[in-house]
Amino acid sequence: PVLVVDYGAQYAQLIARRVREAHVYSEIVPHTWSVEKMLERNPAAVILSGGPASVYEPGAPAVDAALFDAGVPVLGICYGFQAMAHALGGAVDAAATGEYGAATVAVDEPGVLLTGSPGEQAVWMSHGVAVTAPPEGFTVLARSAGAPVAAFEDRERRLYGLQWHPEVKHSPLGQRALENFLYRGAGLRPDWTAGNVVAEQVAAVRAQVGDARVICGLSGGVDSAVAAALVQRAVGDQLTCVFVDHGLLRRGEAEQVEKDFVAATGVRLVVVDAREQFLGALAGVTDPETKRKIIGREFIRSFEAAARDLVAESGASGEEVRFLVQGTLYPDVVESGGGEGAANIKSHHNVGGLPDDLQFELVEPLRTLFKDEVRAVGLELGLPEGIVWRQPFPGPGLGIRIIGEVTAERLEVLRAADAIARQELTLAGLDRTIWQCPVVLLADVRSVGVQGDGRTYGHPVVLRPVSSEDAMTADWTRVPYDVLARISSRITNEVREVNRVVLDVTSKPPGTIEWE
Ligand code: XMP
Repeated sequence: PVLVVDYGAQYAQLIARRVREAHVYSEIVPHTWSVEKMLERNPAAVILSGGPASVYEPGAPAVDAALFDAGVPVLGICYGFQAMAHALGGAVDAAATGEYGAATVAVDEPGVLLTGSPGEQAVWMSHGVAVTAPPEGFTVLARSAGAPVAAFEDRERRLYGLQWHPEVKHSPLGQRALENFLYRGAGLRPDWTAGNVVAEQVAAVRAQVGDARVICGLSGGVDSAVAAALVQRAVGDQLTCVFVDHGLLRRGEAEQVEKDFVAATGVRLVVVDAREQFLGALAGVTDPETKRKIIGREFIRSFEAAARDLVAESGASGEEVRFLVQGTLYPDVVESGGGEGAANIKSHHNVGGLPDDLQFELVEPLRTLFKDEVRAVGLELGLPEGIVWRQPFPGPGLGIRIIGEVTAERLEVLRAADAIARQELTLAGLDRTIWQCPVVLLADVRSVGVQGDGRTYGHPVVLRPVSSEDAMTADWTRVPYDVLARISSRITNEVREVNRVVLDVTSKPPGTIEWE
């Protein structure tokens, strides 16, 4: 892999994505990893990301100079660039002028890294510290008002650096610089494609599972559908899919899974009615992390029960079910604190929410992929667009969209409001523009309203339409006012308990997409 070393900002994820967009496989690792540990991963190249620190602050994360003697191509970006210059004996100093935002660099010598660049490039910068003299052996490629050395390279040692951020869209030629590094600087080939991912994962699943029996939890979402289709391709009839109806589903969801997915794949499907089990376990619980852990645990208990039933059904010869397939994605892992060094933002039910006494071994063929990559894999596997382009819906379902205790009555209210919002957004043709639109019931909040001459004392629901590339970051979607008006008027007219509809206009960060 190409290792992207995370110096603690949001940039590392973006860099990893851009590398993959260049069809080269990449992984994010924390800056606390030793050079030895990185080399064990046998990296094809290393990219040092930007970060909030300044190289000469005490305690700033340094780069071990041994990395540059390992013969691995390295690209330093922003903070990574400065740390690299510092480690190799270059001069790093306060910049004559800070550059935050759009800037222009003069390219004096394109070298390998800036091959194809015009003499001037618009770039995105964010620095108050600059490399003022390059380390020995390096050629300076570009400069800007605040950065006398804005890009450099040592072609022989295959070491490269950029002061600006090539990974953001505001650096229009950024992707080209990254590709120059990957293809020309590091000699990599763009051969990481959906087809290869499928071939690799099919082989990996076969090797892991052998001829054992496997179950897969289907949620109705893209991830579990793609994971199931992939495992089905790998081990065929050894797979049984289990759909747990936990009562936290949206209207029509269970029926849709049975109809669409089974029709597309012919997979064997068992539906488990676990509505009472989940509601019972959630009674009285209001804390989001506790809810997530309970839901994660009850899912597993349901899968265990389904596995026992399967074995019982097949009689005396029945072999136990050893493996559980989950559609875990890379962002779930990173956000659950599973990407080492990352903070635990929330426990995704299928990662941080798993019980300790798990009886299954997990099969997670999508664990390294971003959502859009999963969609490409789904299309590659021949799944219909209706499944592949379905908007994300979290495994814990409406359970994390009721702020307060989850009860059967509250679920009914939220289901009704959610169905209206989804219907209107679909009618307005916004399904692909919007990444997803959670509808959240503020069950413990009441406000006064007036309906038909009478006073009401009802609950608000929140519309949370977001646009996103991969759910790691998101912006609120500017849904046309007339569409919002229709949703609001229908919900307040048709759902008696709701007397207010409000719009969430927070990006991620700082908000997450779901409210819990
Ligand atoms: P957040 O709220 O973390 O959500 O910004 C990011 C994306 O992940 C979905 N999500 C989950 N999906 N299990 C899932 O399968 C979970 O526990 C979970 N929590 C959040 C969320 O809907 C959004 O698409």
